[in-house]
Formats: sequence, C-alpha cells, structure tokens
Amino acid sequence: MNDHVYPVPADWAERAKINKERYAELYRESLSNPDAFWRREAQRLDWQKPFTKVSESSFDEATFGISWFSDGQLNVSANCIDRHLAERGDQPAIIWEPDSPPEMGGGEGRIITYAQLHEAVCRLANGLKSLGIRKGDRVTIYLPMIPEAAISMLACARIGAIHSVVFGGFSPDSIANRVQDCDSRLIITADEGLRGGKVVPLKANVDEALKLLHGPTVEKVVVVTRTGAGVWMEEGRDLSYEELVAAQSPDCPADVLNAEDPLFILYTSGSTGKPKGVLHTMGGYLTWASMTHEYVFDYRPGEIFWCAADVGWVTGHSYVVYGSLANGATTLMYEGVPNFPDFSRFWQIIDKYQVQIFYAAPTALRALMREGDDWVTKTSRASLRLLGSVGEPINPEAWEWYHRVVGEGRCPIVDTWWQTETGAAMITPMPGATDLKPGSASFPMFGVEPQLVDGDGHVLEGATEGNLVLTRSWPGQMRTVWGDHRRFFETYFTTYRGKYFTGDGCRRDADGYYWITGRVDDVINVSGHRMGTAEVESALVAHAKVAEAAVVGYPHDLKGQGIYAYVTLNANDVPSEALRRDLVQWVRKEIGPIATPDVIQFAPGLPKTRSGKIMRRILRKIAENDVSSLGDTSTLADPSVVADLVANRAGAS
Ligand code: WTA
Repeated sequence: MNDHVYPVPADWAERAKINKERYAELYRESLSNPDAFWRREAQRLDWQKPFTKVSESSFDEATFGISWFSDGQLNVSANCIDRHLAERGDQPAIIWEPDSPPEMGGGEGRIITYAQLHEAVCRLANGLKSLGIRKGDRVTIYLPMIPEAAISMLACARIGAIHSVVFGGFSPDSIANRVQDCDSRLIITADEGLRGGKVVPLKANVDEALKLLHGPTVEKVVVVTRTGAGVWMEEGRDLSYEELVAAQSPDCPADVLNAEDPLFILYTSGSTGKPKGVLHTMGGYLTWASMTHEYVFDYRPGEIFWCAADVGWVTGHSYVVYGSLANGATTLMYEGVPNFPDFSRFWQIIDKYQVQIFYAAPTALRALMREGDDWVTKTSRASLRLLGSVGEPINPEAWEWYHRVVGEGRCPIVDTWWQTETGAAMITPMPGATDLKPGSASFPMFGVEPQLVDGDGHVLEGATEGNLVLTRSWPGQMRTVWGDHRRFFETYFTTYRGKYFTGDGCRRDADGYYWITGRVDDVINVSGHRMGTAEVESALVAHAKVAEAAVVGYPHDLKGQGIYAYVTLNANDVPSEALRRDLVQWVRKEIGPIATPDVIQFAPGLPKTRSGKIMRRILRKIAENDVSSLGDTSTLADPSVVADLVANRAGAS
C-alpha cells in the first residue's frame, strides 16, 4: 500500500476556489442544509423560469422517484453557448485536433469560437426541425471525435430532442440494439472515421445496423463528410449534413424546456441483460456537470481544458461537452489515439495548444508509461497545471509516473470516481483542498454521502472495507432506465433498501480517504470501458459451435482487467486454434473491438451448483491463476470439472 501523501501545494491552497476550510464548510452545508446549498449552486445556470422546488427525491419503494428543480425551465444549449456570446463570442469554444498531425497530412485542425458554435448549432437544430424532429424524439449520434459530435448533441438539446450517442467503435449489432431500444427516428453519422491512421467505416456500419432493425424506426440518416469517401446514400433516407445545414437559417431561438425534460440517453453495461439506457435530464445534470467541472478542475476563464475521453462515453458528455461549455471553457477535442503516430502525441498536443488541464484514463497512461520517459520529457508541458484521472482505479505506480514525469511534480492529480449513472464526478480530490494519496479518489463531492456496507447491508464505520452505497440523491443522478423504470429501481435500490448501490467495492482508511477497489458485480472494466460479462457470453453462445460460455475479468497489466472466456463447444465440435481465432473475431463483430476476449479456454464443462448456477468465483480464481485457494467445491454438481479447468488453464498473464 502506498501511503505517501502529497500535500496541497502552497500556491494552490492560496489561489484555488476551494481550499481546505471552504471544502469542509461547503460539504457540511451541502448535507445539513441541502436546500440552501443547491438553490445557490443552481444559480450558475441561466433559468428561463426560476425553480421554486429543489429536490423531490426518494430511494424508498413506496415513494420512489428522483427529481430536481422540477418547476424550473431552461435551455441547456443556451446555457452552453448563447449566454457566453456577449463576453466571449470570439473565444475558442472547441479546439479540434485531427487524427494525423499536419506533417502527415492531417491538416491544421479547427478552432471554433463560441459565435461559430452558436451558428453551427442553430443551423443543425433548424435542420433537425426541417426533418420533422420534435421535442422528445430520439436521435442517435454515431460519429468520430469531430466537432460535429458536440454540435449534434447541442442541437438536440436546443430543441429538446433526446440524443443517444453510440461510441464509434461499436459494431452494427450494437448500434441496432441501441437504436431499437429507444426507437430513434434519426441517425447522425459520418462517411468514415479516422483513428490511429485506420479508417472506420461508420456509414457502412449504420447501413448494416439498419438492416437488422425490426420495424420502421429510423426515417433519416444525416451523413457528415469526414474523409470524403464515396459512401452509399439511400434515396429518400440518407442526406448530406453539409447540404442540410447550408440550407438553414443561422438563428434558432432556444426552446423553453423543463428541468426534468430528458437531455440524453447513454447505454451502459450492467451485470445482467442488454446494456441499459441511462437517462439524464436537463437542469440537475447541467448543474452537476458545471459545478464539478469548476471545482474539481479549479477551472479559470481562458484556460484550455482537455478531456481525452471519447464523446461516446459519459466522461466525454460531461467534460468534453456539457460541463466545459456551460462554464465558458475552451475544450479540446482530439480525434485520435495516444500512440499515433508515436507515443509523444498527447504531450505534443498539450504543447501545441498550451493546455492547462489534462484529464485521461489510467489505461492510456500505463500504455505510455511502459514506452519510457523520453517520449514525455522531449516535450515541454510547461503550460500544464493540473492532471486528472478517470474510469478505473489508478495504480500507485502509474499515479507516481503521471505526477513525476508528466506533471514534473508540479501538477496535482484529481482521481475522479464516478459512473455513467452519476452524471459527473462523485468522489474526488479538489486540487486546492485535498492532500493527495496516490490511488485514492479521496473525499466526496458536495452533496454526496457515501457509506460502506457489508453483504447484509450493515453500515460499517471507521477504517474498513465494504460495498459502496450512496444514501441521498444528487442533482446529476440518472432518472430512469429508458423504457424500464422498474429495472432502474431494481438494479440500484433493492440490494440495500433505501440506498443507491454503486456496484463498486471500496475501502476507507483511518484518515477517511476512500479507495475504490473495483466492481463487485459481473461488470468488468477493460481499458476503462465498462463491459457486462453477460454481454460477451451472449455474443459467444450466438456462435453456431458454442454450447455455453462463461466470462470473467482477470488482472491485466495495461487494460486493468482483461476478458477471460471459458467456452464449451457443441458435442460434435472440436477445439482448435482456428476456432479460437474465429471466436475472437466473432465477438469483435458482434459487439466491437473493445470486447475482444484476451483469453479463450475451451472447457468440456463449467463448474455449476446442483441448481445449475455457474460458480464464477472459481472461474475468476482460475483466470487469476490463484488455484491454490479455490475454496469449497464440494457443492458443485460435478467437482471433477474443476481439475480439468485448472490443468488446461490457458496462458493468461
Ligand atoms: C470505475 C466512467 C476507480 C468504477 C466515469 C465505476 C473508477 C465504473 C474510477 C463506471 C476511479 C470510474 N477510480 N474506479 N477514479 N472512475 N471507475 O459508467 O468501477 O463508464 O463503477 O463511468 O468505472 O464506469 P462508467
């Protein structure tokens, strides 16, 4: 355990918006007088009609519901754009850096000012209206990391259409499931995407996906020109983004929308079943995204903020787009990957645009760390003043490297714990207020009341370890699972009655610091991407030769967790290297490359209880190569399968 503490640097303690005293004071107020606290914090937004009600939320079954600022009205896009125009119309809102640097033909990138963003969003909002899109309609966005992704999200927000962004790495099947689940009427995509020098056939993937849909949900497909490749355009259905917006007025009055109107749906993996459509609404979400962006990153006007996450994930929603723009920031959007054309790319971009705040996932940092320090130290990084981490636990080695090499010991690191469901950062240091412990997400954000409980729900006090629950609602909390409010209640509020269960395990040390230990359910975190083991299993059993599959996570040096799949073939099929490769390709095609199994072990049988339940605990131990402590196997229907699994353990390391 790394117990080194990095105290708040003196200049931060002095200048930061939130110092130790202020944190203590505001945190106390946020719990003891939430009404006053949130009434004040919500004033960071412009309300077309002020709210009188603050929170009407309950986690109990009889009164269950989450609602914030419910009688207020506002427009999210006006809050992210229009209200900044007078003061910072000519300030860059979005700086876009393409996949390839200029010397490799990538071009010079784009700088979009707030005034230009306003025009682009208005034109597209008018374009969507001209295609019949109205308040409450669902729009799927399947785009690469280009400014049109943010513009599309904001155009939907402007007219109250609900966007559902699908990560550009997902397969046609995954797109189809997501489009079908929320009945999208329109898809915005691009001809092709570029990532690490490779072409991603986005439009072709959408065409495939549309063939898989049951019933006529999608009426129009709007196609952004990214590479200019000639792609199939279906008469009457597909149209060019550029032609659509060119024909529109550059002015689109912001609709007056209710605080609890839906803003977006974002699909995320759970322990069971298909990905869930997590629904966020207007007023609470934006208050939360804006507040955390300002306090966690100590954001100051004029600074360049770079969140390296893709807009296909919640981190991109809240910190590339909504939180940043609500605060009038300059947000940097990078189309590519950390290691292309070489391992200096992140640091070169930081120098090119003089980035002050950089926020990335540990998996990227680990991959860059193992390439050696020279890639970093040959760049300046003098502009940096703060670093952030998100998406998975950061191991102390990677933390120390990030701090010492990337940040030259001068930049605090904010290790932010949160989830798609929570909207924005929940447990996190604040750079002027928190002495840092590498690997700890440290303390709760204002309004967040964490608790650790044991398996029976008993509250654990003091220095301890248990399951992390949250006892009260916060404005950025998800409001429902799209189309399945019952599932929302059952997934999060029935394990521990009256509390929100995060699915994470957590330790609290003697100083009150929280240390997230990882998922305690059947969700795995591969390179910071959430994946349900059930999703990978159902992709595998959809293969003609597979009878049964069980998938578990195991520790992986770079990815955090790797995917280990145990596969039982049909009676007449035999294991082979070719079939193994075929299964790997199959899963990539069914879900997308992020679900690529790292290890496939052919297993004649799986360890099951007499009632037929697969004992994953045993499979996890074997995958981790911790076979000396398999525990009690006597309750298995056929204990002999375990010996076979151990003997034929695939070479995972
Ligand atoms: C994990 C990403 C440790 C956690 C914002 C959570 C983390 C899941 C951290 C949510 C962190 C996220 N330290 N673990 N700083 N941040 N996690 O929905 O297991 O993609 O439940 O949201 O990622 O993943 P999601």
